[in-house]
Amino acid sequence: MTEPDRPFRNIAVIGAGLMGHGIAQVFATAGFPVAVHDTQPAALAALHGRIRDNLRALGQNEVIAERVRACADLTETVRGADFIVEAVQEDLAVKQDLFARIEAAASQDAVLASNTSVIPITQIMSALRRRQRALGTHWWNPPFLVPLVEVIGTEWTDATILARVIDLHRAVGQSPVHVRRDLPGFIGNRLQHALWREAIALVQDGVCDAATVDAVVKASFGRRLAVLGPLENSDLVGTDLTLAAHRVLLPHLDRTPGPLRLLEELVAAGRLGMKSGQGFRAWTDAEQAALRARLIDHLLDMRRRETGTDPAG
Ligand SMILES: NC(=O)c1ccc[n+]([C@@H]2O[C@H](COP(=O)([O-])OP(=O)(O)OC[C@H]3O[C@@H](n4cnc5c(N)ncnc54)[C@H](O)[C@@H]3O)[C@@H](O)[C@H]2O)c1
Repeated sequence: MTEPDRPFRNIAVIGAGLMGHGIAQVFATAGFPVAVHDTQPAALAALHGRIRDNLRALGQNEVIAERVRACADLTETVRGADFIVEAVQEDLAVKQDLFARIEAAASQDAVLASNTSVIPITQIMSALRRRQRALGTHWWNPPFLVPLVEVIGTEWTDATILARVIDLHRAVGQSPVHVRRDLPGFIGNRLQHALWREAIALVQDGVCDAATVDAVVKASFGRRLAVLGPLENSDLVGTDLTLAAHRVLLPHLDRTPGPLRLLEELVAAGRLGMKSGQGFRAWTDAEQAALRARLIDHLLDMRRRETGTDPAG
């Protein structure tokens, strides 16, 4: 059997995309050697450049990128790793197949984690032989500026391993929370997509256009959300006021049990958002770049204010 409290020393990340490269960066910044695997040679070739660009933007030492090793072979990537996190596309069959191969190649002691956004960890890990060593670690984009990691166990996950994984993520500067039930979307994405469904419904029903939805959120409760969570806000205004509002409002909120028609229509028409130049609204390249830059500046500012230092410090 395994040493229950052997410290994590070597990290492996499977998938070098948007999330994988950022997760690798966080572990490397904390001093861990990180092996990263991807099936696409182009993703591996871009890995160090992406991490170096991020480190430069953060004012951090680019030498950190040298702790990250790009690796074309899955077996070699996971061999010797004691914490292995998967960040490949959001597809249950792909993730199940990948974890079967990871488990076959990894050491018996390794802990296996999925960064799935919404798929229950139980479904991903059910066929593994060492299911007690498997769990979910759900990060947010970009991993090096958004601190939350939702840590999700299944009915099989060993409580000691869950606690060690929470400690690991705290030690690398993230803010882990334990999600006690393995529900689709965990906590954060359930809340986020409840809001998005109502946002889409308001546009579909002709109440306002997409730009107005976003303007309303950003100029009102969006301003408060980073310091005042919804249930803190309910306590602030009073649970009695919340109850009165819910009696009037909840029967009128959208409860469509699947994706809304408007969203289906956009995707069918090839209006895929920024990557196709148009989604709920049209985006020029300059508008996209400006929005991304504003977001990074905002997240950097928040991190500086929280830590009292630059992210580099
Ligand atoms: N994008 C986000 O904001 C976000 C946030 C949290 C969680 N997630 C989740 O993280 C995961 C990855 O998302 P992403 O946005 O980084 O996707 P991405 O498309 O940017 O990257 C996925 C990478 O995985 C590689 N890949 C695919 N199949 C593979 C395999 N079998 N073995 C090795 N590599 C493989 C691809 O080549 C690609 O480079 C998904 O499950 C997603 O739902 C995404």
